[in-house]
Amino acid sequence: MTAATAGERNPKLLDWYLTHGRSLPWRGSRDPYAILVSEVMLQQTQADRVIPHYERFLAAFPTVDDLAAAPFTRVAALWSGLGYNNRAKRLHAAARVVARDGWPADVTGLEALPGIGPYTARAIAAFAFGAQVAAVDTNLKRVLNRWHGEVLTGPPLAAAAADALGDAPAAEWNQAMMDLGATLCRPRTPRCGVCPVTDWCTGPGTYEPPRSQGRFQGSTRHARGAVMRLLIAEPADFASLVAATGFDPGRVAEALDGLHEDGLIERSRSGYRLTD
Ligand code: ADE
Repeated sequence: MTAATAGERNPKLLDWYLTHGRSLPWRGSRDPYAILVSEVMLQQTQADRVIPHYERFLAAFPTVDDLAAAPFTRVAALWSGLGYNNRAKRLHAAARVVARDGWPADVTGLEALPGIGPYTARAIAAFAFGAQVAAVDTNLKRVLNRWHGEVLTGPPLAAAAADALGDAPAAEWNQAMMDLGATLCRPRTPRCGVCPVTDWCTGPGTYEPPRSQGRFQGSTRHARGAVMRLLIAEPADFASLVAATGFDPGRVAEALDGLHEDGLIERSRSGYRLTD
């Protein structure tokens, strides 16, 4: 893809974003902490579900220092309802590193924070620090694959993203791409008829089905959530966790093992409790 293509396509994309972009509470913020919180929440949860959690979380912990100083039990309580509690633990750990050392200056430094992968590091760099980088999540990847007509991964995908971004303003461009992917260039029902950039696209054929999350009901993930809810309220032993969750003991043991391995819980004299 040539720079000239990006030069013609990006004004159409950014115009569309100006009139059709979603209004989301973290948009327009340049506070790296608020952006970090929003991006970690958005990793596995859709934007409309994230909004109330994001607002509640920032009201409880307005700054990175507030979050760093809080016990994990409070953080986990505020995370309730979002699921995938590992994210809360990693966010908490990242806040503690930032509170101690300050914000890293670049993408490499951001990627070294606990739980911050290539996408989140670039999203923070672009939205908070004005870095000229593309943040490639699954939405951007799908859009770029369709523009190119092939499934790109690794360095070719990163190069395609950098080419497509060109010299467009990176914060707006990334948000525009996310919205294009979430509202028009959807996985199964793309709305090409109203898409502003079909002139520079090979069409919706290039499509990788999203990985299925598997059944939730009765799964270990389900048991993990139930165990976490109980331990947020108070420490508990194995027998009472089994009784209160109603899951079979093997499933509860598996959930406890996973939570322990991920650093969310520890053994106490009376059973299990959340870590600090
Ligand atoms: N998904 C991931 N990051 C997002 C953002 N900043 N806005 C909307 N959806 C997103």
